[in-house]
Amino acid sequence: MATKKMDDIVSLSKRRGFLFQSSEIYGGFQGFWDYGPMGVELKRNVKEAWWRDMITAHDEFTAPAGAPTSFNMVGVETSIIMNPQVWKCSGHYDLFHDMMVDCKATKKRYRFDQVRGRWATCTYGSADKPSDEKLYITTMAEDPEEGVVAAALGVFGLKKKYADKIEWHGGLTTLDTLSSDDLPNAVAPDVQEPGTFTAPREFNLMFKTIVGALGTDDDAAFLRPETAQGIFVNFKNVCDSSRVKIPFGVAQIGKSFRNEITPRNFTFRSREFEQMEIEFFCHPDSSQEWYSYWRDRRMAWYKDLGLSGDNLILREHHQDELSHYSTGTADVEYAFPFLPAGEYGELEGVAHRGDFDLRSHMEGKLDEKSNPLTLQLDADGNPKHKGSGKDLTYFDDQTRDRFTPHVIEPSAGADRATLAFLCEAYHVDEAPDDKGEMQSRTVLRFHPRLAPIKAAVFPLIKKEGMPEAALDVYRDLKQAGLNVVYSQQGAIGRRYRQQDEIGTPWCITIDGDTATDGAVTVRDRDSLEQVRVPVKEVTAEIQRRLRG
Ligand code: GAP
Repeated sequence: MATKKMDDIVSLSKRRGFLFQSSEIYGGFQGFWDYGPMGVELKRNVKEAWWRDMITAHDEFTAPAGAPTSFNMVGVETSIIMNPQVWKCSGHYDLFHDMMVDCKATKKRYRFDQVRGRWATCTYGSADKPSDEKLYITTMAEDPEEGVVAAALGVFGLKKKYADKIEWHGGLTTLDTLSSDDLPNAVAPDVQEPGTFTAPREFNLMFKTIVGALGTDDDAAFLRPETAQGIFVNFKNVCDSSRVKIPFGVAQIGKSFRNEITPRNFTFRSREFEQMEIEFFCHPDSSQEWYSYWRDRRMAWYKDLGLSGDNLILREHHQDELSHYSTGTADVEYAFPFLPAGEYGELEGVAHRGDFDLRSHMEGKLDEKSNPLTLQLDADGNPKHKGSGKDLTYFDDQTRDRFTPHVIEPSAGADRATLAFLCEAYHVDEAPDDKGEMQSRTVLRFHPRLAPIKAAVFPLIKKEGMPEAALDVYRDLKQAGLNVVYSQQGAIGRRYRQQDEIGTPWCITIDGDTATDGAVTVRDRDSLEQVRVPVKEVTAEIQRRLRG
């Protein structure tokens, strides 16, 4: 991964139409991104692979490997703006916040746990501002090791050549590890004096909006910060309108919105993003087994689509990391190239949510089963937010057992998955040019299921009937529903490289021999192997290769 420079991936993304800054001609808009012609296909393929593998290809009569029993899977699409009471009962209204700090000097706002820093002193004689008092020097640079040194040079007034005169006390940590007594000794990013950070404060991440023409506070609603709640509030509707029996899963893909304090790292932390979530409803007694099943299955999904072992890990959360609703969570994490070596970023969380959500959306009644951390109480000890009053329990007509189902939630980010597949696919290697000489090439080695374009069709030259024959092949592939392109511009080697850069797995060339032998050359993006395939069999051959 060391050679996969994030800057190169970002620049390729723009150059070849994967990702653009939102509203770029107006200077962009932080935390918002647009997908270009290649990016939209890549992301659609990620979402379609997920939907197919989790829903449409699911066989409800056979237990998949590792599953305790067979089960049902169905989908829904729910609204982005919901009754505000949903967010009060889900806990988001009271608890969905990050801690933030402001810098009084620069007026910048940071997430408390995202500012990195190191304690340092410097008593060297050439320093303009020597200090034997320990200062916590902070940085928001993408490479925090380098960033903190650069910041310390500024703080102590030292020339770069004297960097080794700074004495460091411990390694990099984050600002939220400091005690309130230590915070005044922290030097904020882009500032050279300590003491400009404010005390940390809560910041709710939900975007507020107004529904209706009156525009009063009573009309305030929220853009959903997760798709999950749309599934919980439809639990009864799904049970009553389909044949599902517990255990079963309900899936949804859709946009979510969070007013992130510091959106960063390309699309990794955006303010508008898409989630692919499953709420899996099961009996409380088997919920641990289902938790292990979904954790392992979701990890395997990323591997099957090409994320390699070394870059992908499964990490169980410590007790103090758990979200307000969760009694157990494991994250699937990826070594994104923008992270320091050895660090991983979350792709998906698989959470054991217990019965918290369904119980909260009922009455929010308190009894010994309720989790006191999650149910908000008013001054009289009653639930602060009133539930729907609807019965969201489940009656098993075989066992005559009535219970509130437990929920296992595999919750993935479509944009993060797309970014991980893009980073993993990015390679620079060598391939022969038109003269047979090896030249450096940039290639995106996407899994064929994810590749935006499945094949490119080229006539070797623009005459002798080759364009006509190539267009026939192109149309045949299109009619089979494959996303293919046709190109007759430029030398053949150049056309290959253009396709390598967008990750097209196969290039099909119609040449001088096609008219006589009725065959074309199919070139493989990764092995560079070229084989002759009869024209009549090209579409079937590409379909066969796509199936793997
Ligand atoms: N319903 C549970 C839930 O929303 P989460 O861990 O907050 O859990 C699930 O979010 C996934 O959504 C994350 O693993 C990540 O892939 C994606 N995600 C969350 N916040 C995001 C953001 N600001 N930008 C991009 N993706 C995000």
